[in-house]
Amino acid sequence: RIVDWDVETASKEGYAHFMIKEIHESPKAVRDTISSLMSDLDVVEKISEEIRQAERVIVTGAGTSYHAGLYFSLLLTREGITSIPLIASEYYNVKGKRGDLIIAISQSGETIDVLQSIRKLKSEGAKVVSITNVIESAIARESDYKIYMRAGPEIGVAATKTFTTQVASLLFLYSYAFGKDWKALKDADKEVEQAINATEGFAKRVGEELAKKQNIYYLGRGLSLPLAMEGALKIKEVSYVHAEAYPAGESKHGPISLVESGFPIVFINDGEMPELLKNNVMEMKARGGKIYMISVNRKLGEAELEIFLNSKFPALSISPVIQLIAYYAAVSKGLDPDKPRNLAKTVTVE
Ligand code: G6P
Repeated sequence: RIVDWDVETASKEGYAHFMIKEIHESPKAVRDTISSLMSDLDVVEKISEEIRQAERVIVTGAGTSYHAGLYFSLLLTREGITSIPLIASEYYNVKGKRGDLIIAISQSGETIDVLQSIRKLKSEGAKVVSITNVIESAIARESDYKIYMRAGPEIGVAATKTFTTQVASLLFLYSYAFGKDWKALKDADKEVEQAINATEGFAKRVGEELAKKQNIYYLGRGLSLPLAMEGALKIKEVSYVHAEAYPAGESKHGPISLVESGFPIVFINDGEMPELLKNNVMEMKARGGKIYMISVNRKLGEAELEIFLNSKFPALSISPVIQLIAYYAAVSKGLDPDKPRNLAKTVTVE
């Protein structure tokens, strides 16, 4: 009897692609990550102490991991901490010093740009914390403190569940360090799961519509900005549609000139500033922009299509939604989202 499946198909466990399988693995990945952090509070405590005492917290990463880092950096800034989000390949523009704490975020733990950034800043006196998914990776080995995400292997080139677990670990660290309700994160996986279940139909429709476009804007304010950036990166990576993220309030200073009838704009509304965001939506609509809205906790209306989710952790709920949109955009164009052209899972050249 001829076996009509190969190892690769078998390990997709019935899913058409690794990307969609791995998005669906996100709740488990988040659950495992949070429970691992909860059983390792000693290191979380030490890192929290370092963050509170640092003169500057420099958060470095590449690609998707940079977006998780930007999210964290914004959280720190809200607490009055001096934090610099650093795109790893731009490391030569920052001079490190004693009193600096570097938080290096990397799924693989091998990205050369991240490795070079921590080597330089460390040699100038900084201490290094790493958050990686691969145990004893190069970046983990060169760090003073290590946190591991427990996302399990990620085969799809475009990061999905590992981004969500990065955000979950960073949210945990932030909540612990600044006296927030970190224990509530033990239910974070449920929020992710609910978001995935609620969003499949919306994401498919939006993905299919966006796949037909040439250009897309992703707009958000505050903590939604890194998610808008990740949404734009994801759809660009797997569906080859050009997408650009912008802080929503800044979009009137230039980007709006491209907006004409039918220009697609995905708004990320995490519920924090719905009134201000609404102004930006109205500006775009007045020019004929076609509005897609991902809303958490506060419905905004005014959109062609809007998904509304309730969540204690907006970023964790929004993360799978932007990934699903990108996935369905790629699939509707007949592309293989697991192996986007020109991209590698791990980049070890500068
Ligand atoms: C490559 C991958 C991206 C990833 C980036 C950083 O460019 O294609 O998906 O976000 O590297 O990878 P890291 O392993 O450091 O998170």
